[in-house]
Amino acid sequence: TDVASLRSDLLAWYDARARTLPWRAPPGSGVRTDPYRVWLSEVMLQQTTVPHATPYFLSFTKRWPTVAALAAVDDGELMGAWAGLGYYARARNLLACARAVANDHDGVFPDTEAGLLALPGVGAYTAAAVAAIAFDRPANVVDGNVERVMARLFAVDTPLPGGKVELKRLAGTLVTDDRPGDWAQALMDLGATVCRPRSPLCLVCPVARHCQGLASGEPERFPVKGAK
Ligand code: ADE
Repeated sequence: TDVASLRSDLLAWYDARARTLPWRAPPGSGVRTDPYRVWLSEVMLQQTTVPHATPYFLSFTKRWPTVAALAAVDDGELMGAWAGLGYYARARNLLACARAVANDHDGVFPDTEAGLLALPGVGAYTAAAVAAIAFDRPANVVDGNVERVMARLFAVDTPLPGGKVELKRLAGTLVTDDRPGDWAQALMDLGATVCRPRSPLCLVCPVARHCQGLASGEPERFPVKGAK
């Protein structure tokens, strides 16, 4: 399949069908969301779904509209607000990162993937996601949804977890300087709403014609899970 037509098919679908989310600018608007909101949403979404995270995101940003405001809360107050999101280590990392941005960076998030990765509590996924979505940097943003989309598009037979390296490499072949933030979010939306773990909606998939997993007749076979 050719990369240019795969990309334009998925971006056209995203332009028409992007979910409206409180941390997301409308596709193609050229508007960039405040990096604080992108970062906060990505940390929350690492452990839960969009519907579960959304009310937390709204209450956090209302209570603490800036990273400096969040940095000023005490640990107990944050833990109370985080209750229900789980994985409290994430909340501690969140606060460590907010304080580093507030204290060491004048409240301004670094605008490169490397700069973001250097922040405490920010891992490879979050750095890539914020670089792409907030700063439109051509970062390779790969979460479990994107892995599944790649495994199906390219009918990757290598079992997980070893196959993750290959899936990330394949995802990287699709990233360009054109609309990298929209591209990352288009893949996430496709994975969440169409290329679902079970019963993928291949009949309405905007990239079905590029999908080797569908061509194989068994798209749900991918990603192949390793022996436990
Ligand atoms: N899951 C993780 N990050 C997301 C985002 N920015 N939009 C939609 N779903 C997501």
